[in-house]
Amino acid sequence: MKWLLFFGALIGLSICGREKFFGDQVFRINVRNGDEISRLSQLVNSDNLKLNVWKSPSTFSRPVDVLVPSISLQPVKSFLKSQGLEYSVTIEDLQALLDNEDEEMQHNEGQERSSNNFNYGAYHSLEAIYHEMDSIARDVPDLASRVKIGHSFENRPMYVLKFSTAKGRRRRPAIWLNAGIHSREWISQATAIWTARKIVSDYGKDPAITSILQKMDIFLLPVANPDGYVYTQTQNRLWRKTRSLSPGSHCVGADPNRNWNASFAGEGASDNPCSEIYHGPHPNSEVEVKSVVDFIQEHGNFKCFIDLHSYSQLLMYPYGYTVKKAPDADELDQVARRAAKALASLSGTTYQVGPTCTTVYPASGSSVDWAYDNGIKYAFTFELRDTGHYGFLLPANQIIPTAEETWLGLKTIMEHVRDNLY
Ligand SMILES: *[C@@H]1O[C@H](CO)[C@@H](O)[C@H](O)[C@H]1NC(C)=O
Ligand SMILES: [Zn+2]
Repeated sequence: MKWLLFFGALIGLSICGREKFFGDQVFRINVRNGDEISRLSQLVNSDNLKLNVWKSPSTFSRPVDVLVPSISLQPVKSFLKSQGLEYSVTIEDLQALLDNEDEEMQHNEGQERSSNNFNYGAYHSLEAIYHEMDSIARDVPDLASRVKIGHSFENRPMYVLKFSTAKGRRRRPAIWLNAGIHSREWISQATAIWTARKIVSDYGKDPAITSILQKMDIFLLPVANPDGYVYTQTQNRLWRKTRSLSPGSHCVGADPNRNWNASFAGEGASDNPCSEIYHGPHPNSEVEVKSVVDFIQEHGNFKCFIDLHSYSQLLMYPYGYTVKKAPDADELDQVARRAAKALASLSGTTYQVGPTCTTVYPASGSSVDWAYDNGIKYAFTFELRDTGHYGFLLPANQIIPTAEETWLGLKTIMEHVRDNLY
């Protein structure tokens, strides 16, 4: 009888679609020093509690956000109490947030079908984003084109939008805008597609973007991890990695932002395929990463690489893999500070600025470190809204405010690149 119930539950789960998080909560745990961090990592690393770290401890002892499954609530609370670690609950009812997000998405899909209009204030399927990229390219064929740069592990196409006013085949200096490399960070894909529409609608009106595009091309990849993105919508909303299979392991995927050839497999990455920060078997093992690397190298004239993530409200520059100061750190810091100020001017959203390694934590094999080490000086990572109230589940009504303020930061960086081509 028990077994029947058990299998019944399994079947129930698989036909109800995505993984459920009933009763699960997100804890914000305060860690004040290295000792507390190591006590907390004991907890986080204990396999049977099945905790999922949303935000890691940082060098500035910022709080740690951890998803705690309902069955682990009691043991985690007792552990924190026994260790004298302070915490608060930032998300009381994770499933309620997910249900809400899902309902809004479905409602919006219905509305878009009847109005035939893409709503930039909503989250979308991969298909809808790809379709909108195509529409942008059709609307302004002289400025935008949709280019296939490769495919994902599960063989989905990877598309970029190329914005160029150049005639002929000469390769102008170029800017790479990357988003969605971590699939659960939905505000990044949504901000990217909004940005695409913003570029074409402001060209010829806003002198800043007009002059940027008179000197440079922009390439925008809104969904750098398409398999992961589809997985977040069909199987598990909180999936971060790719969906590649690792021989010899039952765990799926590598962290595509630990897979670049920049101090690969160094600090801040894991060689355990089950880890959320698994670096993969070798540099560029993830075909999504390799597609971007090949495209950028083949093009040969990129001057700027910006990677959009969430969450934490940070604007960072190399290095992530070492505490050593990058040769251009002073200039990058100045630009980042100006960008953060421009961003904050819209509605007061504050960003912290600094090199990745000392602002958050060591991270080897990241996209911007690779870009920087390969001659792309203006390399920046944004961690978009918020600071943890909703975390990865930022409500759709914050998409446009986030995208609008981020645009001011992006423009500040791109104008600096325009004026400082090398
Ligand atoms: C990684 O970079 C090193 C040089 O730093 C190079 O020798 C090696 O071939 C690169 N590996 C891949 C997979 O691109
Ligand atoms: Zn990320």
